Amino acid sequence: MASTNAAVSLALLLLLLSASVALARVSVGYGGFWHGGDGMKVRGDVLGRQEADRVVELPGQPPVGFKQYAGYVTVNEKHGRALFYWFFEAMTEPEKRPLLLWLNGGPGCSSIGYGEAEELGPFFPKKDQQTLKLNPHTWNKAANLLFVESPVGVGFSYTNTSEDINELGDEITAKDSHAFLVNWFKRFPQFKSHDFYIAGESYAGHYVPQLAKAIFDSNKHVPKSDYINLKGFMIGNALLDDETDQKGMVEYAWDHAVISDRVYRDIKTKCDFRRKKASVGCNTALTSYFNVYEIIDMYSLYTPSCVSNSSSSISSSRQRPMIQGIAPQILSKFDGWHKRSAGYDPCAPYYTESYFNRPDVQKALHANVTSMSYPWTHCSDAISIWRDSPASMLPTIRKLIAGGIRIWVYSGDTDGRIPVTATRLTLKKLGLKINEDWTPWYTNNKQVGGWTIEYDGLMFVTIRGAGHEVPSFKPKQALQLVKHFLANKKLPPKPF
Ligand SMILES: *[C@@H]1O[C@H](CO)[C@@H](O)[C@H](O)[C@H]1NC(C)=O
Ligand SMILES: *[C@@H]1O[C@H](CO)[C@@H](O)[C@H](O)[C@H]1NC(C)=O
Ligand SMILES: *[C@@H]1O[C@H](CO)[C@@H](O)[C@H](O)[C@H]1NC(C)=O
Repeated sequence: MASTNAAVSLALLLLLLSASVALARVSVGYGGFWHGGDGMKVRGDVLGRQEADRVVELPGQPPVGFKQYAGYVTVNEKHGRALFYWFFEAMTEPEKRPLLLWLNGGPGCSSIGYGEAEELGPFFPKKDQQTLKLNPHTWNKAANLLFVESPVGVGFSYTNTSEDINELGDEITAKDSHAFLVNWFKRFPQFKSHDFYIAGESYAGHYVPQLAKAIFDSNKHVPKSDYINLKGFMIGNALLDDETDQKGMVEYAWDHAVISDRVYRDIKTKCDFRRKKASVGCNTALTSYFNVYEIIDMYSLYTPSCVSNSSSSISSSRQRPMIQGIAPQILSKFDGWHKRSAGYDPCAPYYTESYFNRPDVQKALHANVTSMSYPWTHCSDAISIWRDSPASMLPTIRKLIAGGIRIWVYSGDTDGRIPVTATRLTLKKLGLKINEDWTPWYTNNKQVGGWTIEYDGLMFVTIRGAGHEVPSFKPKQALQLVKHFLANKKLPPKPF
């Protein structure tokens, strides 16, 4: 009797073992085959952890042929800080394509709320707030695509040490994002050998170069296991330099018939944007400047505002709390600076907010596992102070150019927030040699997509007719842009 039992148990054990091996085989990264540039084997326990993050299907999701994963990666065990990520394998040949991390700015805004759900990810929440539509210009057509909500306090990312929220700033954001990547690659080692790129917009003009620098510096001394194969980064409508960003905003507003001659003249004579504090006269002039943007969208001058009132039940204000201490030092003291942006469908943020607050969606994403006390929002309501924010990113950019990192800077030219004028002034200040000046580039239907300037060490691209969130306003052009960036190929200077 006893021996029969033992035999049955043994058979059962064998069955279980072979089943788990089979499971491991189908669950590895890209559609079920082993991979590793240097003959690396992905271990069973790693596969199990990876599989636990697998997003099988989201509520209302259209069927897709690529795999997706979401969950938390701990970045600081002592404080209990964890960043939330959502990862999409490339639509085709994920084993061959690069890995691209996308970051939104704020500071305090979610890369999932903007980047994934309204700009360049595969899934956009629909007006019905029940279903998702497939974005035909999703960037996982070009790369394996990773979104992370950073720093803690943003979206689903959290800390178990509440005081951490008052200690945030550029430095800790870069440090935690770097720790996130090191640990994420431990969970997804099959992507470690891939070329790695970072892209982002707006305040990510700080985040992206700072994270690139953190990787660049640590790559010099870390063990091979923590090495990250960083090749380049791309930033759009990016905050880069207090003096030129603020000056450019004012120039642009006058030149685009947003402000009167009087307001323009007052700002010109009373504001010195190299300073940290504004004079009384400058503040008065800037108040008039921001008043105009109460009635039109600063982030996209020529598109409508959301006027539907079906959304009044969700937090309907686009005003986000003021954060003390961020760059640019003068303009960020104004409420008008802290408005949220909308996007191509100016009501899209309402659909997104409603969708990500659904418990079934959060469950499917393995999000909010600690049951946070506040709802998911595009931009954090919890962060109210920012400890460090350098006035200029140019020293960092210079260093990375010298280090051979590929850098592309792009600009949607109908954004009034970090307008093309600001970026042009900033790049002029950077003072690089021009290899090829002001050249048009073409889309595949023979239209001018914008212009490029090829500097010695940096590519600048404008996107004609796009607001602050370029991929949301000009999705086709944005996909073309990212494909060329990743391939290190110039955009076509002639119709083709
Ligand atoms: C935070 O605390 C919760 C509850 O104790 C715990 O389940 C979770 O693992 C902690 N998070 C981190 C990153 O340590
Ligand atoms: C706005 O909401 C109110 C109250 O629910 C309703 O009576 C009104 O018709 C709505 N207006 C529009 C334009 O939808
Ligand atoms: C987390 O879940 C709780 C319910 O358990 C909910 O009240 C809260 O709004 C959620 N927070 C976030 C950030 O999703």
